[in-house]
Amino acid sequence: MRHKILLVDDEEANVRLLRRVLSDEYDTVEALNGQEALKVLKEHEDISLIITDQRMPGMTGVQLLKESLAIRPDAIRILLTGYTDVQALIDAINSGHVYKYVPKPWDRDELKLTVKRALEAYDLKQRNTQLVVELTGALSQLEEVSLGTIRALADALDAKCDYTSGHSLRVSQYALLIGKTIGLTNEELRDLELGAVLHDIGKIGVPESILWKPAKLTPEETQIMSEHPVKSAQIIGDLPSLQKAKRFVLHHHEFMDGSGYPSKLAGEDIPLGARILLVADAYDAMTSDRPYRKAIGHERAMAELKKCAGRQFDPKLVEALAGVLGEGAEPNPHELPPSYLGMSLASIDPKQTGRQFLREAERLARQGTDSSPSEGEKISQAVPQS
Ligand SMILES: [Fe+2]
Repeated sequence: MRHKILLVDDEEANVRLLRRVLSDEYDTVEALNGQEALKVLKEHEDISLIITDQRMPGMTGVQLLKESLAIRPDAIRILLTGYTDVQALIDAINSGHVYKYVPKPWDRDELKLTVKRALEAYDLKQRNTQLVVELTGALSQLEEVSLGTIRALADALDAKCDYTSGHSLRVSQYALLIGKTIGLTNEELRDLELGAVLHDIGKIGVPESILWKPAKLTPEETQIMSEHPVKSAQIIGDLPSLQKAKRFVLHHHEFMDGSGYPSKLAGEDIPLGARILLVADAYDAMTSDRPYRKAIGHERAMAELKKCAGRQFDPKLVEALAGVLGEGAEPNPHELPPSYLGMSLASIDPKQTGRQFLREAERLARQGTDSSPSEGEKISQAVPQS
């Protein structure tokens, strides 16, 4: 593509000379003063380069170049000036919008080389702008795809077990409350929320007979169930914006004493987000009905968390949750940190959540699939089996 150059000089002979030197390789348009040049600029949207004389009646070259910015901000600007125009040179350089000044009288080959370099700079700038636009578009597309994928995954799990959707949302609320209390940044809260919503997504591969079993799991079933953090992480995959959340998900069953899974990490080696998820997950599991036992209530749940703090849970996170939930009142939606995913507990009907799974659990119990857990088992399983 041939570049278009605007040539401006109040002496027609000079314009002609410039045209003769440049028109072999470039298209040229011309003007004999500043006002006319601005008009030409508006008419030709594809001008890449402006070459103007400094000394012109009415509007100087520097003034013209300055005003041309509003019309063609991307164009490259060259000023032709005599050695005596020191002030013009200083102005031109200070204004920062002049690519180069060429002293008069100019040398033909030197001018051609200057124009060539100027247009290379123009092309590079254009390419950069285009790349930034493409990159920004690709990134926002990726982000959109990620969020769309997360919602699709959450919906898929919801379809399989309506109990879990309410659980993941509540876990994300509790996790956000803990995170906010310990001073996490908005970006960290966002990753935490993503992790919370996705932490159990790997359960999509666990058979319903295990998921909804109204009794203690056998060792084999426990083994299948305990694979879900790894499966959750696998499902999240390589989406760049989910990598931090993925680490939280993978390690959300690691215990402080190193007896958890899948990596047997201990203490602060467990990512903070994963430690938060564990506390939020356990609290919600204990304060809501599960196939193998009824909810045990806020007070007993907090007592259980405190009893297991240090061994299983990070004590400062248990403290944070206890502090923020107080006497166990439902978190006030207005006090909750903003949800990155735009999901809130208000979007689920607590009376509906879990109905499908309770019905199924009852059906399985009626069939006598397994014996119901003893009272002792129920309490020892205050902390979730998965
Ligand atoms: Fe889990």
